[in-house]
Amino acid sequence: MVQLPVTEETFAISTISLVRIRQNAVIFNGRFPNSGDGLHYTLNDNVNWLAAFWPGMLWLAGANNDDPIYRETAVSLLPTFSNRLDQQVHITHDLGFLFSLSARAQWQVTGDEAARQLALRAADLLADRFRQPGQYIQAWGPVGEVERGGLIIADTMMNLPLLFWASEQTGNPRYYEAAYHHAQISRQYLIREDGSSFHTYFFNQETGEPIAGRTHQGYSDDSLWARGHAWMIYGFALAAQWCNEPLFLDAARQTAVAFLNELPEDKIPLWDLRLPAHETPYRDSSAAAIAACGLFRIAQLDNDSQMYAQGEELVAALIHHCLETDPAGQGLLKHGALHVPKGWAADEYIIFSDYFFLEALLTLENRNPDFWGPTNKD
Ligand code: GLY
Repeated sequence: MVQLPVTEETFAISTISLVRIRQNAVIFNGRFPNSGDGLHYTLNDNVNWLAAFWPGMLWLAGANNDDPIYRETAVSLLPTFSNRLDQQVHITHDLGFLFSLSARAQWQVTGDEAARQLALRAADLLADRFRQPGQYIQAWGPVGEVERGGLIIADTMMNLPLLFWASEQTGNPRYYEAAYHHAQISRQYLIREDGSSFHTYFFNQETGEPIAGRTHQGYSDDSLWARGHAWMIYGFALAAQWCNEPLFLDAARQTAVAFLNELPEDKIPLWDLRLPAHETPYRDSSAAAIAACGLFRIAQLDNDSQMYAQGEELVAALIHHCLETDPAGQGLLKHGALHVPKGWAADEYIIFSDYFFLEALLTLENRNPDFWGPTNKD
């Protein structure tokens, strides 16, 4: 296992981050931060996939700090997650993000059995999205919908850990098998020969036959959407850990190398790594933070000090180019890009930039509670 050293700089930043989260717990007052222009986050109800990350940050903090405010605030948010299942509020493949960082995290930190049961309920719904003909998990829309029934997307790789965890917890292989087959299909069709990736891929949903790679959030079908690619790096590293599958570790490595090769000199990715020169060069700090977590996971699995050093360089670049240093700022990282083609939050705080940055810092300090990997690490 690669040793992850603590540096004074990262320790100071993670300490300041925990203080900021404490202040935000009061300011946000039961609502969910999404993105933020200037020094403030806009707040929302628990109605979209972004709701995963504020509880996730509270649990990262709560697992590392005796101050009860972190845990109490996170616990107070859980009924809104249960409500989403009851009321079927925007149920998609993102159940993995939503329930790994809320219900699973709550169970993991506090041992709360009701939270564990809630996470298992979400895993059931996620497994129901598995489509037998093509052996993949449908990302969006009602299962079997004409328009999106044949669509997979890169982001789903980060939703698979909830399924692996559900099989670990229950002994029922149904969840693991859905996740394993989805990862195999993603490896075969989303990863291009040069290690870059399509954001999405279409299949004939009746026969499972592959049709074509496309994009939803990238610049074009053949460009390279930075965050989708970062989800692939981290998602394949986690699938490799859960399945002990060398093909998944190869996929994680291959996508990681492609990501690193296409970074600009300052190592903060453009929102699309193949953005034409005439386009506004918005950056996406979230992609660097997610990729750093992925590189650390590969380094841990493969005892790879070079991959670890590359992850450290990404964290250093985020600290030097994106850190919010204004004490009045609510966010941790600036320069996130939520959805540039739709014109949403192109250069702002985004709550998942902050989540993965904090997770990366805590990983460097050997105090990441790890809400994605196996509970039983033996
Ligand atoms: N899951 C969508 C995104 O990364 O923006």
